[in-house]
Amino acid sequence: MPISDPLAAAAEGLGTVLIRPARAEDAAACEVVFVAARRTWHWHPPDSADDLAAESKGERQWVAEDRQAGVIGFASVWVELDLWFLHHLFVYPDRQGRGIGAAILQAVVDCARPLPIELKTSTENTGAVRFYQRHGFVITERPAHASPPWIRLRRVSGYDE
Ligand SMILES: CC(C)(COP(=O)(O)OP(=O)(O)OC[C@H]1O[C@@H](n2cnc3c(N)ncnc32)[C@H](O)[C@@H]1OP(=O)(O)O)[C@@H](O)C(=O)NCCC(=O)NCCS
Repeated sequence: MPISDPLAAAAEGLGTVLIRPARAEDAAACEVVFVAARRTWHWHPPDSADDLAAESKGERQWVAEDRQAGVIGFASVWVELDLWFLHHLFVYPDRQGRGIGAAILQAVVDCARPLPIELKTSTENTGAVRFYQRHGFVITERPAHASPPWIRLRRVSGYDE
């Protein structure tokens, strides 16, 4: 699998961030990102069990690796024959809002082509919904009585940024 070019983010003082397929030894660092980012969700039960390894078993993963800080973000995707389901996309809280999530998502989009990508997220996660819509996703499902409420988004291949 090709490794994407390093994302030069030096202008923002981030150092150089590389987007690459995850390796087995990245699991602990991804778990740290996952737990830290979920703790910022005001709608997420504080006592919930956050077990990324169990939740992402069998999924294809990418990480964002900072030369100094190590893994600062990741994506985890369930690959089906006709569809890629983006199960997780997380960036460490201190590093959010600087283009890292967009770079990881781009790596997933490039590999998924020509298949569409779908995901589900909480309706409370308005920042993420805005992020996905800006990257070509559209809301395809909004169950009226889901508890907790969630929406499904879909990005068809061929969408032009
Ligand atoms: C959503 C997320 C992956 C985007 O990655 P990122 O590196 O922050 O995104 P970028 O810098 O490429 O783009 C910034 C956009 O992300 C969104 N965003 C930024 N911080 C966010 C946060 N804490 N939570 C949710 N979305 C956020 C916003 O839409 C922002 O756009 P804005 O400037 O219009 O507010 C990242 O913010 C994150 O890990 N959030 C927490 C986990 C999450 O909600 N994941 C998605 C659902 S599983």
